[in-house]
Formats: sequence, structure tokens, C-alpha cells
Amino acid sequence: MKAVVYVGPRQVRVTTVPDARIERHTDVLVRVTTSNICGSDLHMYEGRTSFAPGRVLGHENLGEVVEIGSAVDRVKVGDMVCLPFNISCGFCANCEKGLTAFCLTTNPDPCLAGAAYGYADMGPYNGGQAELLRVPYGDFNCLVLPEDARDKQTDYVMLADVWPTGWHATMLACVQPGDTVAIYGAGPVGLMAAYSALLRNASCVMVIDHHQDRLTKAEEIGAIPIDDSRSSPVEQILELTQGIGADRGCECVGFQAHDSEGSERPNMTLNALVKSVKFTGNIAVVGLFLPRDPTGRNDLYKRGEMAIDYGTFWYKGQTMSTGQCNVKNYNRQLCALIHEGGARPSWIVSHELDLDDAPEAYAHFDAREKGWTKVVLHPGKAG
Ligand SMILES: NC(=O)c1ccc[n+]([C@@H]2O[C@H](COP(=O)([O-])OP(=O)(O)OC[C@H]3O[C@@H](n4cnc5c(N)ncnc54)[C@H](O)[C@@H]3O)[C@@H](O)[C@H]2O)c1
Ligand SMILES: [Zn+2]
Ligand SMILES: [Zn+2]
Repeated sequence: MKAVVYVGPRQVRVTTVPDARIERHTDVLVRVTTSNICGSDLHMYEGRTSFAPGRVLGHENLGEVVEIGSAVDRVKVGDMVCLPFNISCGFCANCEKGLTAFCLTTNPDPCLAGAAYGYADMGPYNGGQAELLRVPYGDFNCLVLPEDARDKQTDYVMLADVWPTGWHATMLACVQPGDTVAIYGAGPVGLMAAYSALLRNASCVMVIDHHQDRLTKAEEIGAIPIDDSRSSPVEQILELTQGIGADRGCECVGFQAHDSEGSERPNMTLNALVKSVKFTGNIAVVGLFLPRDPTGRNDLYKRGEMAIDYGTFWYKGQTMSTGQCNVKNYNRQLCALIHEGGARPSWIVSHELDLDDAPEAYAHFDAREKGWTKVVLHPGKAG
């Protein structure tokens, strides 16, 4: 089958690899029709993770079931399904509690929890930027989509990761109707966090970035764009909130946070959030941070450590919640919103391309080139 394979820093290739296949009785085999490129892929693409050359990328996947293992009885051949980026078993202590991003059985490393398709340190599973995808524990992991799935693929594929992750940010930050919310990062995740906060009736959503095209997308849905290249985002947020700070804050950037000149400082958004959020406010961190960053700029960063303004954080009585999104907690209800016409998350998509276009698409999206807000690849056509 054709697949997007990681070659080395800033290099991917579309090449032929052995077909994905049913390996266990509980597996489902999916012919992928839609697979996104994610900001998380870019950490791997840039060589900032342990992702091994030769592996297939892609964790935001949607497609048609073409084969089922003998122990699968809910999912049927022909179903259109969207796969949470998390691969989880459904029966471990964490899955039972809904913490499917921290599954205790699907990551073969006993020191780690959580698995995903085509993702560094999250198990050996190949990604779905390919013609076929093996889905472990198919009955548990497949979200079977409604009859309009083939027509609304660019909406439904957002259920694999970015929309639930944006929603998760607003849940971790305890966003309530009427709240003011500050969101650092206007990438797909930040935009989806803003979209979710507005759907949850936040009164004012401020989105911070230095890419004007991405800020314009945020403005399209009614968020207030804040350009951090013009002046301090903290000051702009304090001004908009009468000096009090936002009720809630969301970090949607991750460890590669940088200033508008490109100088990287992994602690900058976290410390900005401590300053931007009110006394007793909640901060959600869904941007990715790593236990080790061998290419980090100093010894602290290399160890995954950073200086946090803990005194102010403590003094303000704030709460910080972190981690990967448990997609299954939200994907069914968000699916219903798409189906009933209450939401259209495909509004962030800027490019729909063939799998063969992946190398160029990665390069453009990685450069955060103007107009490249979200790339959707189509390895195959929906039948
Ligand atoms: N927790 C999860 O489950 C989960 C799921 C998906 C993605 N992620 C992570 O979320 C993060 C965002 O993903 P994405 O797809 O939107 O990525 P992205 O790289 O496309 O977007 C990040 C945005 O942050 C902006 N930015 C950089 N430094 C900034 C700063 N100091 N202040 C404000 N904005 C700044 C960039 O200009 C960019 O627009 C990534 O780290 C990704 O790995 C986490
Ligand atoms: Zn993703
Ligand atoms: Zn589990």
C-alpha cells in the first residue's frame, strides 16, 4: 500500500510499504479516505521526537471498514468510521474511568501509558496517512458515523483529534457560560478550543498568535484576535478584562512555543497564562510537552524541564490541568452536533490534497505559510 513515511528531519516520502492487515481477532481494517496532518506530526517531522525513520505517520483518520477480525461484532464491513487518535483497550483501570489517552495495555512499554497511530513513544502502531489502517480493539475504538459520513468527511475527520482536543481544553479549564477565555495558539487546536468555548457560551474568547491568517480565522467565529508580535499579549488581555485577567486559559501551542522572531522558549506560554488568568482561574495545557527534548536549546530544556513562575501561580490560587485528550469522552456528542447541523468544524480546513502531495503539504504547513491552517489528505475516495 502507499503510505507517508518519515525519512528524517523535515523529510517525508510517499512510498510503498507492506499492507496493513488484521493481526488480532479484535482488529478492524480500514481503507482510509481522509487523514489530516496535525501540529503534533510537525514535532515528529522536524526531528524533535524519537519517531523512527521508516514509520508511517497519521493519527487523525477516517475511512471505510473493509475487513473485521473474528471477535468483532459491533462494527460491520462497509461502515464509515472515524478513529480517535488514542488506541485504547476499553478494559484497563484507566479506560474504565474514561481516561483512554492513558490506556495501560496498548502501549507495550510498561513505563508508559497511552498509545496512538503513527506517534512517537505511543506504541509501535503505524499511522493512517496510508491506503489502509489496522485498528486494534475495533469495537471499542471505531466511532461508526451516520449516513451523511461520505459527504461530510472533512467535518467528521476533525473528531479524530483536533475538535475533541479543543473541547478537552475547555473542559480542563472548566469553561462556564459567561466566562472570559484566553487561548494561546491559533493553530488547528487553538482554533478548535476557541470554537468549543464559544459553543459553550463563553462571553469573550481571546486568541493569541502572531500569524495574521490564523488570527483572522479566529475572528471569523467571533473570537478577539491578539497579535503577540505587536505588543505583550498579557497586557492586551489585562486591558480587555479590566485588569482582572481571563477567567480561564488554554495552552494550545506546546514546547516549541516561540516569539514572533522565532526564538524558542518552552515556558513562555505557560508563564504568560499565569499572568493572563485571574486569581483562582483555571489553566488547561493541551499543547504537547515532552519528558526529554534532546534538541532543546539548553540543558534544562533537554531534560524537559523549564522555569515556571510558580510563586505567582500559587499566590493566585490557580489550577493547571494537562495532557493528551481522551477523545472517546467527547467524539459521540460532537458527532451528533455535526450530524444535526449544529457545528461545522471543517471551517478550519485550508487544503484538501492527495496522499502523493504529502511531502509538499508537510513543508508548507510546517512553515506555517500564509493560508495553510489545516491540511486534509485523501489516500482513497469514499465509495
Ligand atoms: N493534548 C492533545 O491531545 C493534543 C492533540 C493534538 C495536538 N496537540 C498539541 O497541540 C499543539 C498545537 O497543535 P496545532 O495542530 O494547533 O499546531 P500548530 O503548530 O499548527 O499551531 C501552533 C500555533 O501556536 C502559535 N504559537 C507559537 N508560539 C506562540 C506563542 N508564544 N504565543 C502564541 N502562539 C504561539 C504558532 O504560531 C501556531 O500558529 C501541538 O503541540 C500539538 O502537538 C495536543
Ligand atoms: Zn493530531
Ligand atoms: Zn485501556
